[in-house]
Amino acid sequence: MPDDRSAPPSQRLTRLHERLRRIAIRLGLGGGATAFTRVAYTVPRQIVVVTARHGEQEALWPVDWHMPVSLEPPMYAFSCEASGHGSETVLAAGFFVVNFVPAELEATVMAAGSMSGRDGDKWARLGLESAECAFVAAPRLREAVGWLECAVERHEPWGSRQLVVGRIVHAHAPAPGLRLFHEWRP
Ligand SMILES: Cc1cc2nc3c(=O)[nH]c(=O)nc-3n(C[C@H](O)[C@H](O)[C@H](O)COP(=O)(O)O)c2cc1C
Repeated sequence: MPDDRSAPPSQRLTRLHERLRRIAIRLGLGGGATAFTRVAYTVPRQIVVVTARHGEQEALWPVDWHMPVSLEPPMYAFSCEASGHGSETVLAAGFFVVNFVPAELEATVMAAGSMSGRDGDKWARLGLESAECAFVAAPRLREAVGWLECAVERHEPWGSRQLVVGRIVHAHAPAPGLRLFHEWRP
């Protein structure tokens, strides 16, 4: 173990931060979900609707936790509950669509987030129509202003969630207009 006093100040600081980081993780000082989301939601997040099909099952659900992760090759990721009907459908199908939705769809999209595809056909219950994708075996939301057709590249558990990374096979350029954002104040 090197003697901290002989190391340059910047290295001593790095070691100190590393020790503090380990202590914080051991003591569970992350601040809990509420503190974390208070920080992460200081700006509104764009809500997308993820859609997928496996057999007869057509899934759709709103997702706040999504982001681009690579330009070359183009990839997009989202985080979800592994046991959700939507995420199970995505993983079984190997394809998904990220639908960017207009602001006027707010009530419908929020309703989609408070029901499960396990309890019946959400599309019919919400009066939503699907259209077939051009490049992947998946339905897309007819009302979407732009969408990304993706093939699952990787998926793995991340803490309490599942991270799904898709390779973008086709991106449909968005129509202009106000998108749907979620301003959550936990
Ligand atoms: C605004 C909003 C954002 C959400 N963001 C996510 C998300 O990022 N990831 C996720 O898995 N669920 C998210 N949810 C929750 C799911 O949409 C919700 O659990 C849904 O009922 C799951 O449907 P399913 O059981 O058919 O998969 C969000 C819900 C709302 C209303």
